[in-house]
Amino acid sequence: MASYTPESMVSAIRQSPPIDLSKPYSASWVKDKTILITGGASGFGAGFVRHWAKHGASVVIGDINVPKGDALVRDIKKETGNTNVHFVHCDVTDWQSQVNLFKEAARLSPHGGIDTVVANAGIAGADALQDPGDLSVAEPQKPSFKIMDVNCTGVLYTTHLAYYWLPRNPGSQPCSMDSEPERDTRDRHLLLLGSIASLAPIVVQPQYGAAKHAVLGLFRSLRASSHMAGVRINLLCPYFIDTPIVTPIARASLAGGAMGKVEDVVDAATRMVADSRILGRALVIGPKMAVKQREDGQWALVEKEVPGSITTALWEPCADDWEDVDAFDRNFVKLLNAFQYSRGWVGWAVDLVKAVGYAFGVGGPRS
Ligand SMILES: NC(=O)c1ccc[n+]([C@@H]2O[C@H](COP(=O)([O-])OP(=O)(O)OC[C@H]3O[C@@H](n4cnc5c(N)ncnc54)[C@H](O)[C@@H]3O)[C@@H](O)[C@H]2O)c1
Repeated sequence: MASYTPESMVSAIRQSPPIDLSKPYSASWVKDKTILITGGASGFGAGFVRHWAKHGASVVIGDINVPKGDALVRDIKKETGNTNVHFVHCDVTDWQSQVNLFKEAARLSPHGGIDTVVANAGIAGADALQDPGDLSVAEPQKPSFKIMDVNCTGVLYTTHLAYYWLPRNPGSQPCSMDSEPERDTRDRHLLLLGSIASLAPIVVQPQYGAAKHAVLGLFRSLRASSHMAGVRINLLCPYFIDTPIVTPIARASLAGGAMGKVEDVVDAATRMVADSRILGRALVIGPKMAVKQREDGQWALVEKEVPGSITTALWEPCADDWEDVDAFDRNFVKLLNAFQYSRGWVGWAVDLVKAVGYAFGVGGPRS
């Protein structure tokens, strides 16, 4: 009991400050890290693997697409000369398949551990929640929730395994804002792939939207306590980016609008993987735009070269809102702990007796 004073609970909630995107980082800081990535055979994943292998990381891809994964690994080995790039068949919806992937990654790792896990595998497309099917039948058929299985349950499996393997990474230290990325090669980092659909509704893809909101909830819940396992957790929320996941219908509805580029997602992910001082932060990645901040704090689109403008594809979303929410949580937890403290040992003993009574069917809201 004594270790859970209000003060210790408050100090237990910790994230690094919003990311200063004007500060450079070095992609070379990924050198010698072992990175496990789900869904790494295509799109962002393939971009990450290519870039990180070029900078000397060991990368293990887990994906269902064997021909694409094998071909990618072959190409990257040839392009970069890095032989520590591997493909392992993995279906993220299958627990045992992910267990095997993590074991294999540790076995293939030159130092026997895993420094970063990227929960990237995802699908989109036809959504049962958008199409109730034949309304004339007496009973609807069981719908397919495959999008939820891959984008939510698959991510939960990856997260659970990450919290088992990352703290066991030999030579790694608990994550810290004071780490030195150029020196501290060993890491404990989980990077989640959310989406702009984590932050806003997405039309005709309710299951995708629900799954990506779940990823945001997972991130926000874990970021407050993750450092207790010494693991840093970060999130990427890309807008529509030109990869195979963007369906022809989505492309048609985006016509005339803007799409982002894989290279900018790779840039955001590399900053988070390379810079071990980043704890509990999220980045939105959109199309690259020239913008200037107005006096009211809002950003406005401007021509390139306008004095005071910046050109960026990366944004940190809701950072202030999250600070407020976390401050609320902090205060609330502080109050709850102060309340518990004020009840003392007597309050604790009374509740314990009640709990035992409840187990034997005496008292409590049972009806
Ligand atoms: N491209 C975008 O516009 C965009 C925007 C926001 C978020 N995202 C997210 O980024 C992540 C990567 O998407 P992408 O754009 O690179 O798409 P992609 O289709 O190019 O790549 C997804 C990869 O996941 C793999 N995969 C699918 N089901 C799997 C399973 N059951 N087990 C293992 N692997 C599986 C696929 O084989 C593929 O290699 C996804 O989580 C996606 O939701 C993409």
